Formats: sequence, C-alpha cells, structure tokens
Amino acid sequence: MELAQRTFLVTGGASGLGAACVREFAQAGANAVICDVNEPREELPAEIAARVRFAKTDVTDEASVQAAIDVAMRAFGALHGAINCAGIATAERVIGRDGPQRLDHFAKVVTVNLVGTFNVIRLAAAQMLKRDVASGEDRGVVICTASAAAFDGQIGQAAYAASKGGVVGMTLPIAREFAQHQIRVMSIAPGLFDTPMMAGLPQAARDSLGRQTPFPARLGRPQEYAALARHIVENQMLNGEVIRLDGAIRLAPR
Ligand SMILES: NC(=O)c1ccc[n+]([C@@H]2O[C@H](COP(=O)([O-])OP(=O)(O)OC[C@H]3O[C@@H](n4cnc5c(N)ncnc54)[C@H](O)[C@@H]3O)[C@@H](O)[C@H]2O)c1
Repeated sequence: MELAQRTFLVTGGASGLGAACVREFAQAGANAVICDVNEPREELPAEIAARVRFAKTDVTDEASVQAAIDVAMRAFGALHGAINCAGIATAERVIGRDGPQRLDHFAKVVTVNLVGTFNVIRLAAAQMLKRDVASGEDRGVVICTASAAAFDGQIGQAAYAASKGGVVGMTLPIAREFAQHQIRVMSIAPGLFDTPMMAGLPQAARDSLGRQTPFPARLGRPQEYAALARHIVENQMLNGEVIRLDGAIRLAPR
C-alpha cells in the first residue's frame, strides 16, 4: 500500500515510537490520527500538521477508540491502517520485598499492552471492512508493537513479557483471519530504543543498555522503527510475521 493519501490511526502517537511514525507517515503524504491518553509531546512541523489530528484515546476503552475512528472518518473519509504503539512498561518481581506482585499491577500491563492492542485492531478492522477494494489490493494494514521481552524477558518483566508475548501470539491468527478481507497484520519487536519510556533511566544506565546491543552498540532511534513500519505498509508480502528490530540483542536475565 502506498502511504500518500491513506489514513492511519497511530496509538501511542504522542510520544516515542508512535510519534516517529506519525512524522514519517505524514511526511510521506499520509493522514494520521494520534490516539493517545496524553497530548503530543512535541509540536508538528507546519508542513505536516494539516494531515494530523489528535484524539484523546484510551486504547482499553471501546467508546474511546470508536470516537478516534470517527475523528479519522470525519477528517479524512476513510481508514486504511492502524499502528499500535500505545504501551506501558513496568518492572516488578513476582515475589518482591512486600510479598507477591499485586494482581491488579499484572492485569493493568496486560490490559493496556495486549487487550488495548486487540481492541484497536478489532474496531479499526471493522471500519476498514466498509471500504471497497479491487481483488489483490490491500484493504488495510495493521502493525502491532511487541518487544524483545516477548522472547527474552528479564527478571521483573513477567507482566510486560506476557503482554508482549500475547501480541506475538495473536499476530498470525489475526493475519490468517483477515486474509479474506485483504488486511495484513504484522508486529515489530523492538530491542532497546531511545524514547521517553527509556528517558526515565539515568544516562549511564541508558549508555550501558545501548552497549549491550551487539551492533550497532547504541539505543535504537525512533525513526528506525518508523522506517520499518513504513516498509511494512509498502511491502505487500509482509504479513503474519513478527520482525525483531534489535541490533541482535538478546536480553540478559537482569
Ligand atoms: N522504547 C523501547 O525500548 C521499547 C522496546 C520494546 C517495545 N517497546 C514498545 O513500543 C511501544 C512504544 O513505546 P515508546 O518507547 O515509544 O514509549 P512512550 O512512553 O514514549 O510512548 C508510549 C505512548 O503510549 C501512550 N499510552 C499509554 N497507555 C495508553 C492507553 N491506555 N491508551 C492510549 N495511549 C496510551 C503514552 O501516553 C505514550 O504517549 C510500547 O508498546 C512499548 O512497550 C518500546
């Protein structure tokens, strides 16, 4: 699918990887609706601002996501894709100093990262299905964000790794189901990327994490994620797969 004049929901688009996708896509002529619980962190360049809308959205809430889809339809008239970048990361041992991890802490991470992603996929796809397309043409493209932690989760990442493992697990079955609708479904599993999610760590810790990536020995740049998301949209043979984007890192136990 070409990007120009296509419309995408970008969840988590106010920050980090999602914000980079909004810029990359809008610079390529696409329209984007930033779906995020928070306002965008940075103002957009004037040349792309007209192609971008912000809809305050909680991905875990049905009405909220539907309202964001309605914003896309009103502003741009059609929906062609959803890029799922909304997510939260926590670190908590299963058995910590204060006893077992709280069940609501575990459930919250799974609810935002996995259930929220599913919520957006199902509602966005239902909207995409209303659009007629020629046989063989992409009706829509869905991209989800997993994590290297889905495969090599660290101590303290039971909830996060479970949520991202769920994203990995649902990629193929949804791609298989949506094949009849000509909608592709892909996931990207990033390694360590330099985003506000990482910015909470001290510089020394970020440098150290960066050096753990075999090559290039640095944190990934959000634009590198956005470039892959763009390629997935543009390359029709990519479907039903999870791509690690990680400079060959395999996360250590701690
Ligand atoms: N940065 C990394 O190293 C890294 C690595 C692997 C995976 N990821 C994943 O990439 C995605 C993007 O992360 P990032 O690094 O850009 O983080 P980020 O914190 O910069 O951006 C995440 C965005 O999601 C939004 N969000 C959180 N909960 C939401 C909700 N319920 N509804 C709507 N929006 C919500 C936040 O407001 C924020 O703007 C996340 O799913 C994260 O788990 C990041």
